[in-house]
Amino acid sequence: MKVITTIDEVRDQVKAWRNNGESIGLVPTMGYLHEGHQSLMASAKKDNQRVIVTIFVNPMQFGPKEDLASYPRDLERDKKACQQMGVDLIFCPSADEMYDANFNSYVNVNGLTDALCGKKRPGHFKGVCTVVTKLFNITQPDRAYFGQKDAQQLAVIQRMVQDLNIPIEIIGCPIVRESDGLAKSSRNSYLTDNERKAAVCLYQSIELANTMIAQGERSVATILSAMQLLIEQQSLAKIDYIEFVDLSSLKPVSQLTQDTLCALAVYIGKTRLIDNFIYHH
Ligand code: PAF
Repeated sequence: MKVITTIDEVRDQVKAWRNNGESIGLVPTMGYLHEGHQSLMASAKKDNQRVIVTIFVNPMQFGPKEDLASYPRDLERDKKACQQMGVDLIFCPSADEMYDANFNSYVNVNGLTDALCGKKRPGHFKGVCTVVTKLFNITQPDRAYFGQKDAQQLAVIQRMVQDLNIPIEIIGCPIVRESDGLAKSSRNSYLTDNERKAAVCLYQSIELANTMIAQGERSVATILSAMQLLIEQQSLAKIDYIEFVDLSSLKPVSQLTQDTLCALAVYIGKTRLIDNFIYHH
């Protein structure tokens, strides 16, 4: 497994693989890898002859009051995880390698980024789309793998690839959960023991919603208030948003009469966690 920090070296390696007719799968990450990332790598490995994992905590997608400085990092552990998964190349550039002093070009996907996390984290998706486009151009993969946990990110990247004719297949992979249901996330490492126990309320609210839906409930207001009530019982939790939106437009819906994404963001102490489920009509 190669560990590369410069764009030129990645390009050389990609060219050699391409000349051999080998297919390439890309797993873009911000590191501090967990089983969710490993499932992306496993899918990439299954579909492609070569797998590239990028590890880059992208400053552009963090707001001024967000956790860029404290975002967890452990490159040595990440290298071992990638090695075990049979990854061929890790690209872990510095911020200077990615953004030179005169950097001034951005990729914006409008509309879809106004909803959900986009409302709460202005500029976040511009940072994500810009860095993902750069990573696509640097690694030129056949396929790229993203987790369904970041449902809006996946929808935005799918839109971007279609709008800009980027010749890469985007593959969304299912949420991987802890045994109590908490969605795996690098940010779970911020949680104290008590917060970790409290954090299960996100998944419990999803289970409650799914039970109500199974029993025939279709009113978003009714399901939403039950979810809110459940989470509000947890003193360490503070809801940032819970929204039901049309899966393709991400516009709010009031009845479950079409494919719907229910996405939620909840602060557990100071840590903001997200989760979601999709209702298929
Ligand atoms: O999902 C992430 O970890 C990041 O948003 C991504 C896609 C690697 C871009 O920095």
